[in-house]
Amino acid sequence: QILPRLYHENVIDHYNNPRNVGSFDKNDPNVGTGLVGAPACGDVMKLQIKIDDESGKIVDACFKTFGCGSAIASSSVATEWVKGKSMEEVVTIKNTEIAKHLALPPVKLHCSMLAEDAIKAAVKDVEAKRAKLNGSSNAAP
Ligand code: FES
Ligand code: FES
Repeated sequence: QILPRLYHENVIDHYNNPRNVGSFDKNDPNVGTGLVGAPACGDVMKLQIKIDDESGKIVDACFKTFGCGSAIASSSVATEWVKGKSMEEVVTIKNTEIAKHLALPPVKLHCSMLAEDAIKAAVKDVEAKRAKLNGSSNAAP
């Protein structure tokens, strides 16, 4: 549609039909929120993950991105890829893998970087919350 033809069909699909757009309650102890910005263009991405209490696996993910089509598509792919995985696994997702999946041109690499950073930030956030919770519940009186 409005995207130039150099974009791969995966990016157009994720741009036109982004998966998992939305928000979770950021105060939920099992929700991790990653909020990152790209200094180069000012675009902002919020990616959230929801963790299963017992297994520690990511059961759900969502995002809101104020940015270009490539950033939106990258967040959409990222939310699809993290579901069902462990936190250890998802922090190894590389922006280059996302960029390759979407066939992003080199000038759009930083857009996929936002997604990698947002995943890592979301994991950090939920790990910190869980550590805090465990810490306080185990605290001696
Ligand atoms: Fe959606 Fe691959 S086309 S994650
Ligand atoms: Fe900056 Fe895409 S142009 S995130």
